[in-house]
Amino acid sequence: MDSYKITLSEAEIPQEWFNIQPHLPRPLPPYLHPGTGEPVGPQDLAPIFPMGLILQEVSQDPLIPIPDEVLRIYQLWRPTPLHRARRLEAALKTPARIYYKNESVSPPGSHKPNTAVAQAYYNKVEGVKRLATETGAGQWGSALAFACKLFDMECTVYMVKVSYFQKPYRRSLMHIWGAEVFPSPTDRTRSGRGILAQNPDSPGSLGIAISEAVEDAATHDDTKYSLGSVLNHVLLHQTIVGLETKKQLALAGEEADILIGCVGGGSNFAGFAFPFVPDKLKGRDIRIIAVEPTACPTLTKGLYTYDFGDTARLTPLILMYTLGHGFVPPGIHAGGLRYHGDAPLLCLLVHEKIMEARAYHQNPVFAGARLFAQTEGIIPAPETAHALRAVIDEAIVCRETGQSKCIVMNYSGHGHFDLSAYDAYLEDKLEDFEYPKEMIEQALADLPKVGK
Ligand SMILES: Cc1ncc(COP(=O)(O)O)c(C=O)c1O
Repeated sequence: MDSYKITLSEAEIPQEWFNIQPHLPRPLPPYLHPGTGEPVGPQDLAPIFPMGLILQEVSQDPLIPIPDEVLRIYQLWRPTPLHRARRLEAALKTPARIYYKNESVSPPGSHKPNTAVAQAYYNKVEGVKRLATETGAGQWGSALAFACKLFDMECTVYMVKVSYFQKPYRRSLMHIWGAEVFPSPTDRTRSGRGILAQNPDSPGSLGIAISEAVEDAATHDDTKYSLGSVLNHVLLHQTIVGLETKKQLALAGEEADILIGCVGGGSNFAGFAFPFVPDKLKGRDIRIIAVEPTACPTLTKGLYTYDFGDTARLTPLILMYTLGHGFVPPGIHAGGLRYHGDAPLLCLLVHEKIMEARAYHQNPVFAGARLFAQTEGIIPAPETAHALRAVIDEAIVCRETGQSKCIVMNYSGHGHFDLSAYDAYLEDKLEDFEYPKEMIEQALADLPKVGK
C-alpha cells in the first residue's frame, strides 16, 4: 500500500538543535549598538534577553542539546508527520513527488511553539516572571501564551492592530492560555504613543509592535522580551523541523531536489532548510526557495544593509535585506509575513546565492491554497499558502518538462482562524497590492548610516 504519512516515534525526536553558524561560507557580521554603532556584546542584550539565549545567539557549537523539560513538552505534538501529497500530485497531473512537513499539528496550530517553549524555558530558569512580545496574525502570540502557561509565567502580547481585528479567534486562544493582548500601536508605551501622534489610524506593523514589546521589557525588571523570528536562537530552535524531515525522507528512500518555505522573519523556512545546507555546500544539487508576499518583498526587492529591527529604533542594527524600518506593508492577510527585514542568517545565505527567493500576490496564493484544501483536506494558513504556491508552480514545471523531482515544503501552519481571508478570496475581494515602490523608497531613505 502506498503510504501518505511518514511518521517517527517519540523516541526518535532529535535531542539536539542544529547550529548553521559553523557551516556558513563566511562569519555572520555582528549586531551593532543602535547608539554607538559598535558591535553588541552579551551585556548589551542582557536587559531584554536571558543569558541562556544570548549565548545561543553567538554559539559556534555545531549541535546544541535540547533540555529535557523542553523535550517533554515537545512530545505533546512532536514528531510531526511528513505527508506525501498524493492527491495534490494527481490533481496537478505532475510526475513530481510532493511532500509537506506538517507543523500545523501543534496545539497553537503552527511551528511557532518550537521556539516559544524553548524561550519560555530559558527565561524561567533565570527567574523571569513575565514575557512581552509582538505578534502579527497571532500565531506567535498564541504560541508564546501557550508556552508561558506551561511554565507558569505571565505573557503580554502587542498584536498588530490590523490583525487584532482581522483575527479575533487567535486573540481568544491567547486569552484562554492566560495572556493579556493589546492592539498595537497602543498608548501604553512611548513608542506606541509616538506612532499614534503621527497617525492615529495606523494599522500597525510588526516593527511597531516589536518596539512596544522591547520597551515594555526594558522598563520592567521582572520582564524580558521574546521574539518569534529573525534572531539566530529562534532559527536554531526551529531546526528540529528540518532534522525530523531529514530522518523522514531517509525512511521514505527519498532525497529532496527542491525545498520550499514561506518567509516572514525567516524562522520556519530556516529551521526546515538549514540542516540540508551542509549537503548543498558539499555539492548536492538541491534548490532552496524562500517565498514572500509581493506586498512586502524583503528578499526580492530589499537592500542588503544594516537596519533596525523595529520602527522606533530601539533594537540593535542587523545586517539583513530590509525595506526600511519605517516601512508599513499593506494589510494583506498573511499577517505573519508583514515584516520589513529578515533573519540575518537567512539573508547571508540568500546573498551568497545558496538560497533563492521569489514573491507572489495574494490571489494566486489563495487559489493554490484552495486547491490544496480541496485535495489534501487541510486548510493552510495564508502564510503557508505562499510556500504552497511555489510548490504548485514547481510541480507544474515538472509536468511540462516530464521531470520527476522530489519537492518538499514546510507546512508552517493551518488557517482555521483565517477563514475571513478565505471568504474575502471567494467573494473576489482580495486586492493584489502592487510592489509599493514609492513607500519602499521613502522608508529606505531613512536607513541608518553605518558601514557594512
Ligand atoms: C503559519 C505561519 N507561517 C509562517 C510565518 C512567518 O514567520 P517565520 O518566517 O518566522 O516563520 C508565520 C508568522 O506568524 C506564521 O504564523
